[in-house]
Amino acid sequence: MHLPQRVMIREVGPRDGLQAESTFIETRDKIGLINGLIACGIDQIEATSMVNPRAIPQLRDAEEVVRGIGRKPRLVISALVGNARGVERAIRAGVDEVQMVISVSETHNQRNMNMSIAESLTQLEKVMLTSSGTGLKVRAAAAVTFGCPFEGKIPVERLINLVSEYRGLGIRQVTLADTAGLGNPRQVYEVVNELRDHFPCLDLALHFHDTRGLGLANVVAGMQAGIEIIESSIGGLGGCPFIPRATGNIATEDLVFLCESMGVETGVSLAGLFEVVKQFEEVLGKRMPGRLRQTLDDNGCTATQ
Ligand code: COA
Ligand code: ZN
Repeated sequence: MHLPQRVMIREVGPRDGLQAESTFIETRDKIGLINGLIACGIDQIEATSMVNPRAIPQLRDAEEVVRGIGRKPRLVISALVGNARGVERAIRAGVDEVQMVISVSETHNQRNMNMSIAESLTQLEKVMLTSSGTGLKVRAAAAVTFGCPFEGKIPVERLINLVSEYRGLGIRQVTLADTAGLGNPRQVYEVVNELRDHFPCLDLALHFHDTRGLGLANVVAGMQAGIEIIESSIGGLGGCPFIPRATGNIATEDLVFLCESMGVETGVSLAGLFEVVKQFEEVLGKRMPGRLRQTLDDNGCTATQ
C-alpha cells in the first residue's frame, strides 16, 4: 500500500472547531488550547480568523489570541482570511501565514464570503499585493471542493479553473476542503491525481469534515494519492456556520491514531492530545465528538492502552 513516511498535521480546531460554538469562549481558554496543542508536538496551527466579527462573533478576539501564543522555532501560526482587510490585520497581529478561502460553488461563496467568486479573486489579488515583501505566506483553500450543499456536485473543471487563478496570482499551496463532508475516497483519489496532472509543482493539502463518516477513509485515499499535509480539528469540533447542519472536522487525535497505527509518522503525542481534549471539554462544558474520545475513561485511558 503506498503511503507517505510522514504527514504534517495542520490543526484547525481553534478556528474551524470554535467558529460555530455559540457560547463565547474566553480568550485565555483559546490561548490555553493552542499552547496545549503546541506542547503535543503540533507545529502548524490555524489559530483564528481575521474576518468580519459580525459574521463569526466567536473569533472577534483574533488579534489577542495570536498575541498570546507561546512561539517557538518552526511553529507556524496561520489565520483564515476572506478579504484584503483581513490580511492587513493578520500582518499587524504577527501571524506567519494566512489561508484565503474561496468556494468552487458560487452559492456557497456568496453565503460564506458575501461576494461572488470573481469578487473574492479580486480580493485575493489585493491580498497578494498587501502581503508582498512582508514575509507573510499566503495559502488558499478551495471550499466545497467535493460537493456543495446548495449546488450539489461541482464539475472538477471549476476546481481546475479556480486553482489556475490561484497559480496565476502566485499561490503555491492549495487546501482542498470538503466543507460539507460530501466527498468519498475514490473521488478524493481521482481529484488529487487530476490536479497533480494539471499543476505538477503545486503543494496540496486536504481538509475533511466527517459529516457522513467518510472523513478518515478520505484521508487514506488522499495519502495514497501522495498528500502529505492534512488538516484536522482537536476533538472533532467544527463546521461552517453557513452550511445547514454542518458537523465537525476529522478529529486530530483520530487522525494521529490512524497514521501512527499504519506506520505513518506525525510527530504528535496522542496521550498529550487526550489531555488537551479532557481539559478543553471542561471549558466547553460538553463531550467532544471525536471517535477515540468515546473510548476514553475518566482517567483519560483508552481501551487500546
Ligand atoms: N475584519 C474585520 N472587519 C471586517 C473585515 C475584516 N476582515 N472585513 C469587513 N469588515 C467589516 C467592515 O469594516 C464593515 O464594518 P461596518 O459595517 O462596521 O462598517 C463590515 O465588516 C462590512 O464590510 P464589507 O466590506 O461589506 O464586508 P462583508 O460584510 O461583505 O464581509 C467578509 C466580507 C469576507 C469579511 C465576510 O463575509 C466574512 O467575514 N465572512 C466570514 C467567512 C467565514 O469565516 N466563514 C467560515 C469559514 S470558511
Ligand atoms: Zn472546515
